[in-house]
Parts: sequence; C-alpha cells; structure tokens
Amino acid sequence: MPTLFKKIREVKNYITSLKCDGNKSIGFVPTMGYLHEGHRRLIRESKLQNDITIVSIYVNPLQFGPAEDFERYPRDLERDLSVCAEEGVDAVFAPTDEEMYPEKPLVRIEIEGLTDIMEGAFRPGHFSGVCTVVLKLFNIIRPDRAYFGEKDYQQLKVVQRLVKDLSIPVEIVPVPTVRDEDGLALSSRNTYLSPEERQSALALYMSFLLAEKLIRSGNRDPEQLVGAIRDFISRHEHVKRIDYVEIRDEELRPVKEVKEGDRILLAVWVGDTRLIDNWRVGDAQV
Ligand code: PAJ
Repeated sequence: MPTLFKKIREVKNYITSLKCDGNKSIGFVPTMGYLHEGHRRLIRESKLQNDITIVSIYVNPLQFGPAEDFERYPRDLERDLSVCAEEGVDAVFAPTDEEMYPEKPLVRIEIEGLTDIMEGAFRPGHFSGVCTVVLKLFNIIRPDRAYFGEKDYQQLKVVQRLVKDLSIPVEIVPVPTVRDEDGLALSSRNTYLSPEERQSALALYMSFLLAEKLIRSGNRDPEQLVGAIRDFISRHEHVKRIDYVEIRDEELRPVKEVKEGDRILLAVWVGDTRLIDNWRVGDAQV
C-alpha cells in the first residue's frame, strides 16, 4: 500500500526526507481521483522515469463553477488507494478542503489567449482554479516531473505555459489520451452516462475520424470541417448541446488552413453530462 498523507506538513516532511536520502527523483501525478486506465497510464510513465511516484487525489472546488458538478463528482478513496497500490505508487496525498484552503484563496491566474478561450470561455474561472491548485501542489510536492494527460489538452497547454512564464522548476510530461476499445476517451465523468448516452457519446470520437477523412480528401478549411463535425454530432440522440468545436494549431492558435499536427477540440453535452475530447490531425489512418 502507498503511504497516505492527508496533511500538508506530513507530506512535506516525507518529501524532505526523500531529498536528503540521496536526492531521489520525484514524479508527480495530480488527479481528482476515481482513477481509471488514463490515470494509470500517467502513473506508469512516472514510475518509468522517476525513483518515487506521488499521486494527489483532490477534487478541487476552485475549478468548479457554482452550477457545475462539484457535489456530484465521483469519489472513492478506498478504491483509488488500491489502484495506486496495484500500480506501485509510493505515496498518495489526499488533503481535505480545510487543509488545502483554510481561507478562500484570493489569487487569480490568467494566461492571455489561453485561459480565456474554449474551456475558459465556457467555464469562467476554471483555469484560474486549476492553476492555483497545481501551483500549490507543486510547491508542496516539489516534483522533478509532473504528468498531464492530452485528454485535457488545453489544461496541458495552460500548465506548460504557467511553468514556462514563472520558471517553475518542474518538467511537464504530456501523456497521450487513453480510450476505450470503441474510442470513447476515458473520464471519471463517464460514470454519469446511461448506456444509451454512452452510445451517443461515441459520436465525439467518430467525428474525429470523419474529419480525418474529409481532410485526407482535400478539405483543409477549418470552418467547413467544424461545420461537418457539428452536423455529425448533433444528429445523435441525447446530444443536448455543443459548447464548442474548434480546430487550432498545437499551441492553440487559430489556423486558416488545417494541417497535420493541428488539434480538433470540442465540448459536448450528452444528456446532463459535459464531455470534452480532442484529436491530433493525422493520428488516424482512415
Ligand atoms: P483529472 O480529471 O482527475 O485528471 C488527472 C490527470 O489525468 C489529468 O492530467 C488528465 O488529463 C489525465 N487524464 C484524464 N483522463 C485521461 C485519459 N483518458 N487519458 C490520458 N490522461 C487522462 O485534470 C484534473 O483531474 C484536474 O484538473 C487536476 C489537474 C488534478 C487539477 O485539479
């Protein structure tokens, strides 16, 4: 079993002892728990590259809007601890809200052109909350490397830029999206989906394959491609609303003509569940 820490002071002491003990390299995997194969992939990558792997499990209230699913978000620490044990995680940091935020943090973090688009536009304050908790966790854990999934591509880019702009001494390691066999990107939020909704949710992945086909047949116009993706997805039952579909370059700048390496990013409501996914153009042979 990994050692479980609930207190900042205790995990900091543990880290200090690791640093004294031959300066062990520390890999860090921040999560909100309810761990699945996607999280496991991050953990495995960290295990390969570091002496010690630490996972944090914390549903961060700062990154949820008032009408969002903070209360409903799935939580199961016992199960998460056994997943961490199976994967050979050394320590888990699972603080309470009182421990993390004895006082409501007043700091706000913005990255121009990055935290105000797509997820940031539809979830005001979301990335400020993500950046605050990630920075705070980095300061507590002081990792050499931290692992982030491409599943949340905009989050990955935001964290990379935060680290770069503020010279934070951590290497951000991106990990590709893990999908179910039928293509649905794994997410803790998939537990909200009924079997019928889950079937409709496959439209997200299928729309990427459709876009690949169109691009391969010569269509490089982002507006037309976005239109085709929107049409395709909205034809599916249970699809309540499309928040956005965008095609941007790998640094999330707008593109005039779509090329290999660009990203298709989208957020779609299937029933009462908001799903996000993204795709690197050129990743499928269709
Ligand atoms: P959470 O949604 O639990 O995700 C934790 C990490 O796992 C993130 O880096 C996410 O991108 C990655 N991940 C999730 N699903 C994945 C999949 N299918 N394939 C690969 N990686 C996947 O993202 C968060 O938590 C929070 O915002 C956090 C960074 C912990 C800050 O609170």
